[in-house]
Amino acid sequence: MIHSKIIGFVILFFSFFCFENAETFIPGARYAHSVTLVDNKLYFFGGQISEINQGQELIHIYDQLFYLDVSSSFNIESPSWTDLTASKRVPVRSSWSTSSVGFGIQSSNNHDKSTIYLIGGLMYLINQNALVTDVIYAFDTKSQQWVLPVINGTGPNRRRGVQAVSDNTGKIYYFGGNSDYITTGSPTANVTRYNTLNILDTAQLSWSIGSTIDAPSPREGYSATLFINLIIFIGGRENSYNGQPFSLVNISQIPVYDTQSSKWYLTTVGGANVSNRHSHSAILAQNDLIIIYGGVSEGGVPAPQQLIALNITSSPYQWIVPTTSYLSLYAMPPPLSLHSATSVGKYMIIAFGNITNITRSASLSIYLLDTTNWTWVTTFQPSNPINTVNIVVIGAIFGIAFFILIIIAFIVLYIKLRRRNSPNFPPTKTSPPSSSRNSISNQFPNPQEIMPESYDVRTTYTRPRSKPNPLLKPYSTLANT
Ligand SMILES: *[C@@H]1O[C@H](CO)[C@@H](O)[C@H](O)[C@H]1NC(C)=O
Ligand SMILES: *[C@@H]1O[C@H](CO)[C@@H](O)[C@H](O)[C@H]1NC(C)=O
Ligand SMILES: *[C@@H]1O[C@H](CO)[C@@H](O)[C@H](O)[C@H]1NC(C)=O
Ligand SMILES: *[C@@H]1O[C@H](CO)[C@@H](O)[C@H](O)[C@H]1NC(C)=O
Ligand SMILES: *[C@@H]1O[C@H](CO)[C@@H](O)[C@H](O)[C@H]1NC(C)=O
Ligand SMILES: *[C@@H]1O[C@H](CO)[C@@H](O)[C@H](O)[C@H]1NC(C)=O
Ligand SMILES: *[C@@H]1O[C@H](CO)[C@@H](O)[C@H](O)[C@H]1NC(C)=O
Ligand SMILES: *[C@@H]1O[C@H](CO)[C@@H](O)[C@H](O)[C@H]1NC(C)=O
Repeated sequence: MIHSKIIGFVILFFSFFCFENAETFIPGARYAHSVTLVDNKLYFFGGQISEINQGQELIHIYDQLFYLDVSSSFNIESPSWTDLTASKRVPVRSSWSTSSVGFGIQSSNNHDKSTIYLIGGLMYLINQNALVTDVIYAFDTKSQQWVLPVINGTGPNRRRGVQAVSDNTGKIYYFGGNSDYITTGSPTANVTRYNTLNILDTAQLSWSIGSTIDAPSPREGYSATLFINLIIFIGGRENSYNGQPFSLVNISQIPVYDTQSSKWYLTTVGGANVSNRHSHSAILAQNDLIIIYGGVSEGGVPAPQQLIALNITSSPYQWIVPTTSYLSLYAMPPPLSLHSATSVGKYMIIAFGNITNITRSASLSIYLLDTTNWTWVTTFQPSNPINTVNIVVIGAIFGIAFFILIIIAFIVLYIKLRRRNSPNFPPTKTSPPSSSRNSISNQFPNPQEIMPESYDVRTTYTRPRSKPNPLLKPYSTLANT
């Protein structure tokens, strides 16, 4: 009798362990997040989703920080996310920000390219509907600490629609973007597009401005890709010359900034006839092609060819429309905008984004393109798999430690059962440990953020009745401030 109870306890004990292991973090859908790869970890910051609440469109902006480990293989259906939000969340709720890696801020790490700078976009106080005044935060991936860097010189004002890139000298290039009623928090603000190239030298912690001679038109929603010493700016939206608020940049006329000579060039691209777009992604693939995914074309429709590539080794550059295949239907991404794309080995990793052929739908998936054969695949295989001997050793140590723990638990339980000396001692604890509940609720932090959707069409906003919060200001009262 008592033995079967003990066995039951051991099974329960095991099931707790299994529950803990099976309880994995799954990030929710989002778009306008930012992502940076450092040391085999793909760090994701913030993002937002929109929702209709009683006829009003509400925006939830996230302070989440989590990463995907790309040193081991994973399947796109169950990627191994690690959530850092509980202890290392972004100090602000952030969306439309851009992130890029530079040198550290402490003297101990200021030649170590391991600090991620999160710049611009929307940055809201965690518990209030108010923009913060700071425009830049830094996350040291080594110490896993957030720092508010003190930077010399004048940096950019708060803008969005920017993609920053960094080079090996620790400089981060931040071009253009726009300031509007959302980034200023002032409903009467006009849209201002910029064509300034702000350069953050993370070694000196100083801002400077790149050449303005031959600089392209003010624009946002473009992509920026560094190829050796050239930054290649593709697509986006620029000020319109025919009375419209904006028009799409001609995707076949590509501005290039040479970081060595500090000069702007304009390149005319040959090859395939591809459609203009904004809010797409771009990566530099291993084979020196720039691969573009997604984006929105004229008339707000998904770009007709979602996947295009720019051959930058040919002169002039050439547009290519590759023919893709897929290993499984779910391996193929929907049309997206405001997603992220990262080049890791032979793969392009697409994550999250606004699904552009469905109204108000954000993606919670990741997709993998094998860039060597244009196949959407389901499994990521790291190019430098970590030493399996180490895994075996670590595994063995863990295994032994686990075994010892089990024995101790067994003995403790046995003693307790003997002491109780009672056959009706009930093993009632069946609910998951409280920590797991916390981590589940952490997946949807701060559901009280309110902003009008879309900066092209202003919508009115009323406070949601379900969650009254005195700190939130209705959009209509913002108009009077
Ligand atoms: C920052 O600017 C101040 C004043 O312009 C100057 O004295 C100081 O040396 C600068 N610091 C760095 C690190 O460039
Ligand atoms: C926005 O532009 C309009 C038209 O040019 C102008 O009348 C208005 O003052 C501008 N608003 C602001 C806040 O600058
Ligand atoms: C875009 O630029 C290309 C290359 O200069 C040119 O052939 C094409 O006509 C331009 N498209 C539009 C719509 O102006
Ligand atoms: C390129 O595509 C656009 C839109 O699809 C079309 O209007 C234009 O005529 C095409 N140009 C060429 C040279 O095929
Ligand atoms: C890119 O252009 C180079 C030079 O013209 C050519 O050798 C190469 O095959 C092209 N790459 C692709 C993928 O078309
Ligand atoms: C959106 O696009 C995807 C991929 O092309 C397609 O499978 C899906 O049916 C489309 N959805 C709608 C609503 O058009
Ligand atoms: C997301 O996509 C939908 C559908 O195309 C579109 O209506 C909406 O404006 C997009 N959202 C943003 C923030 O671009
Ligand atoms: C492309 O390579 C992947 C391996 O990464 C393989 O599974 C897939 O079948 C290949 N696709 C084609 C069309 O050969």
